[in-house]
Amino acid sequence: MTVLQVLQATTAYFKKHSVENPRLNAEHLLAHVLGRKRIELYLEFERVLTESELAPLRDLVKRRGEGEPLQHLLGTVEFCGLTFLCDKRAMVPRSETEELVELIESRIENRKSKIEDVGTGSGVIALSLAMKFPEAEILGIDISDDALALAQENAARLKLVDRVRFLKSNLFENVDGTFDLVVANLPYISTQDHHTLSREVLHDPAVALFASARGDELVRELIAQAPSQLRPGGMLALEIGIDQGDALFSALAEKNYRDIYSKTDYSGVTRFLFARYG
Ligand SMILES: C[S@@+](CC[C@H](N)C(=O)[O-])C[C@H]1O[C@@H](n2cnc3c(N)ncnc32)[C@H](O)[C@@H]1O
Repeated sequence: MTVLQVLQATTAYFKKHSVENPRLNAEHLLAHVLGRKRIELYLEFERVLTESELAPLRDLVKRRGEGEPLQHLLGTVEFCGLTFLCDKRAMVPRSETEELVELIESRIENRKSKIEDVGTGSGVIALSLAMKFPEAEILGIDISDDALALAQENAARLKLVDRVRFLKSNLFENVDGTFDLVVANLPYISTQDHHTLSREVLHDPAVALFASARGDELVRELIAQAPSQLRPGGMLALEIGIDQGDALFSALAEKNYRDIYSKTDYSGVTRFLFARYG
């Protein structure tokens, strides 16, 4: 089979197995197996593939058709222009979170800020901010040993081990000191919404997805505890779930945060909250 025929057959297989963006997924997996950039496939459409090139693809295509996330099969994910290792130890980073990093970037006044990333997962927020702010001091915390191991591997790949520290902690339990910025993308899905999630999302660790019955419990707890972590005038930046904006905005006001405002993501959902304390 030629490159083009393989792409067409794989796309048809993915369509049949309800994979979103079937052609794009097919191109990513074939490029991965061939060690090419996706765009380079277009120069080779007529090339006939050998059996040794096709064999590893078959397994990946089958697993993708069964709902395994593309990023797990590729082993990496692009986030804020950087390549991160990605596997089942932590949540697959989402594009909304890239928006959060961009919003933070435009709001940080002091480039030497001390930053804390709560629920760091694979470390994407902490490490992207470290790249953008070479003078910042950054701590990433997570309750999951698996996630912290992946975050450390990502720090090593990006040569940021000396600049970003990772710590195991249930919220702020093991954290000393205060910060100019506390950023958090904590689990915010209600356990009752488990059945609404896609096959791909269900490959994320449960500890990364679900808070409790309502969904916003952990973010509320963070809002209550964060004043002890923030320097006077320090900023809290949150990614939140659909329909949680109004209630969490009120929770921030009740805890005496100031300059509270929300931002929508590119799909128009109120997804981010910012506030200052003190
Ligand atoms: C939604 S994921 C976000 C991961 C990463 N920051 C990102 O944006 O891709 C939430 C993370 O919070 C962590 N987490 C859950 N409960 C926690 C807690 N009580 N304290 C600290 N981290 C927690 C999970 O292990 C998970 O890595």
